[in-house]
Amino acid sequence: MLGGTKRMSQNLFKSILIFTFIYGVLSTPPEDPIECSSNNTNCTVTNSYGMFPDRSICQAAQTLYPTTEQELVSMVASAARNKSKMKVATRYSHSIPKLVCPDGQNGVLISTKNLNTILRIDVEGETMTVESGVTLRQVISEAARFELALPYTPYWWGLTIGGLLGTGAHGSSLWGKGSGVHERVVGLRIVTPAGPEEGYAKVWNLSETDEDLNAAKVSLGVLGVVSQVTLKLESRFKRSITYVTKNDSDLGDQVLTFGQQHEFADITWYPSQRKAKYRIDDRVPTNTSGNGLYNFIPFRSTSTAVLAATRTTEDIQEATRDANGKCLGAIAVTGTLAATAFGLTNNGILFTGYPVIGFSNRLQSSGTCLDSPQDVFLTACPWDSRIKGQFFHQTAFSIGLSVVKNFIEDVQKLVDLEPQSLCGLELNNGILMRYVKASSAYLGKTEDAIDFDITYYRSKDPLDARLFQDIYEEIEQMGLFKYGGLPHWGKNRNLGFIGAIGKYPDAGKFLSVKEKYDPQGLFSSEWTDQVLGLTEGITIVKDGCALEGLCICSEDSHCAPSQGYLCRRGRIYKEARVCTRREEESASKSEV
Ligand SMILES: Cc1cc2nc3c(=O)[nH]c(=O)nc-3n(C[C@H](O)[C@H](O)[C@H](O)COP(=O)(O)OP(=O)(O)OC[C@H]3O[C@@H](n4cnc5c(N)ncnc54)[C@H](O)[C@@H]3O)c2cc1C
Ligand SMILES: *[C@@H]1O[C@H](CO)[C@@H](O)[C@H](O)[C@H]1NC(C)=O
Ligand SMILES: *[C@@H]1O[C@H](CO)[C@@H](O)[C@H](O)[C@H]1NC(C)=O
Ligand SMILES: *[C@@H]1O[C@H](CO)[C@@H](O)[C@H](O)[C@H]1NC(C)=O
Ligand SMILES: *[C@@H]1O[C@H](CO)[C@@H](O)[C@H](O)[C@H]1NC(C)=O
Ligand SMILES: *[C@@H]1O[C@H](CO)[C@@H](O)[C@H](O)[C@H]1NC(C)=O
Ligand SMILES: *[C@@H]1O[C@H](CO)[C@@H](O)[C@H](O)[C@H]1NC(C)=O
Repeated sequence: MLGGTKRMSQNLFKSILIFTFIYGVLSTPPEDPIECSSNNTNCTVTNSYGMFPDRSICQAAQTLYPTTEQELVSMVASAARNKSKMKVATRYSHSIPKLVCPDGQNGVLISTKNLNTILRIDVEGETMTVESGVTLRQVISEAARFELALPYTPYWWGLTIGGLLGTGAHGSSLWGKGSGVHERVVGLRIVTPAGPEEGYAKVWNLSETDEDLNAAKVSLGVLGVVSQVTLKLESRFKRSITYVTKNDSDLGDQVLTFGQQHEFADITWYPSQRKAKYRIDDRVPTNTSGNGLYNFIPFRSTSTAVLAATRTTEDIQEATRDANGKCLGAIAVTGTLAATAFGLTNNGILFTGYPVIGFSNRLQSSGTCLDSPQDVFLTACPWDSRIKGQFFHQTAFSIGLSVVKNFIEDVQKLVDLEPQSLCGLELNNGILMRYVKASSAYLGKTEDAIDFDITYYRSKDPLDARLFQDIYEEIEQMGLFKYGGLPHWGKNRNLGFIGAIGKYPDAGKFLSVKEKYDPQGLFSSEWTDQVLGLTEGITIVKDGCALEGLCICSEDSHCAPSQGYLCRRGRIYKEARVCTRREEESASKSEV
């Protein structure tokens, strides 16, 4: 009797899982990153992963929710009159570093959650003016309704316009002005603090001819609150996507021509499998038949049971140093994704083969895990911190085209030394390589480059060393320091920002605009001052700090000596200092 009930409930559970997988409707949307007492005071703020690089939680005295520019101005004025520190927060707070934290505990958060209106669409002039809290998803779908398109965008549509501009977010293209959304900004209104004679707040109305726009369009949130943005669009168009997988022997050469050949080219690299997946993606005439859709599988509502099982498996593989298990897992994951075309369908329902052709707005970006009513956590976004799901470090930097081949070949040399070392990042669908172009934004890219996105296991215990810790650290330091990589402002661990500002020739111009817009630094914090090179202390030196990327090790105690991980030189990049396991150390010595 009991057994029968149990079986019935198990079957029901299974059907729900299948139903959920197919329809994705039983999802739980992401949590609000801001939590306050009932009257919006006494708040804490975190990011969409529920975890900053240093694992701290930030505080703020209150959160304000302006609904119009007028309200925004009076709120900034009120805080400026109080000499309160401020920061802009967004609906989901996707950036990994502590950009959202106001200085100290008495600061004010200004949320753009309710600044979410599309204000104007000029069909003739092909522009759209939006409030800064509008999401990328809204921009893409509204543009399409008027047969317009924002051609190059990030691949995740939950970002807000204010937030994605804040960190210089991008898609992938070497064509035209390139893939940064900031390249399409032709107007921007920003609210800054001001003196009493101006009522403590001021609106700057910037157009393309104002040089200050080069500071405001990628601002790290330190200039003030972007209120409205006008984007240059173009006519709606269709794209044709085909994925082709090859071995990675000639990857270093291929990357240089591939981005010239295809407008929306990107590459996903599986270095331990020694494969690279090329996205052949070009414009096609609008009358080409096809109604393709890209609903990227890793951005869908995912069964929390599956996520928990996946995480447990990787925890065990890490604990037992099961490199082989990780490699088998990586082949299974990448194989499954390839077999399901990563979430591409030819008509919104079925994948019947490449090429997938359709309107750009249906292919450029996705993120259906944001949808749906609250449920009981049957599904969620894979990285939702309320469930046992993904928990990772993300290292993301762009390397100039002039040296990118050497970087790729150095990584390949590391794989030759430790063939199984990078299976762990293949479990996260490999290294995503995207094209970015030199920008007029003072904090935008300084040369044409490839942006590498590397996602890898993070332990719940900050003092736990990871499998092939040293190889991941060496790649990170090689990219950032040997090849001068520019860190993505919205991703990375603390060490990613060491010396970063020194890589921007226009940093001085940016700082002058900051001095002009916010001379008291009310929108600045300890973190942004460190990133902008105004104060020391980007790294946090303490026991185990290198494991979390809070520092580069200089002593064994910065690694995990009790687990056998000691601070040693890199293997290919000798200037790197990485946490190496004793066994590996003796193995590599005996090789020499
Ligand atoms: C799943 C996922 C996928 C991603 N995909 C991509 C991708 O494809 N390409 C890419 O380049 N990046 C990508 N990112 C990174 C992302 O683009 C950046 O982290 C982006 O800054 C986050 O936008 P947000 O709206 O969540 O803003 P937040 O992270 O909340 O804010 C970012 C910064 O902008 C400031 N800010 C926000 N709004 C305003 C405003 N109105 N005025 C002034 N300052 C403001 C904030 O204070 C903060 O300093 C991805 C992130 C995630 C989580
Ligand atoms: C918010 O609530 C707390 C405790 O209930 C109270 O002390 C405080 O004055 C309130 N703040 C505002 C702005 O109403
Ligand atoms: C603020 O919130 C924390 C917990 O969220 C609580 O411990 C603390 O007492 C609160 N402080 C005030 C002044 O309400
Ligand atoms: C400014 O200070 C006043 C009085 O202390 C307070 O009521 C108000 O909430 C503060 N405003 C902001 C935006 O901090
Ligand atoms: C802002 O600047 C634009 C471009 O110069 C102009 O068309 C617009 O009228 C200005 N808006 C306001 C409110 O001044
Ligand atoms: C990689 O593929 C090329 C052809 O595209 C082939 O010539 C080469 O031998 C392959 N290398 C390996 C290691 O398989
Ligand atoms: C698309 O339009 C072009 C010119 O407008 C025409 O030459 C071509 O045959 C059309 N193609 C299809 C598939 O209808």
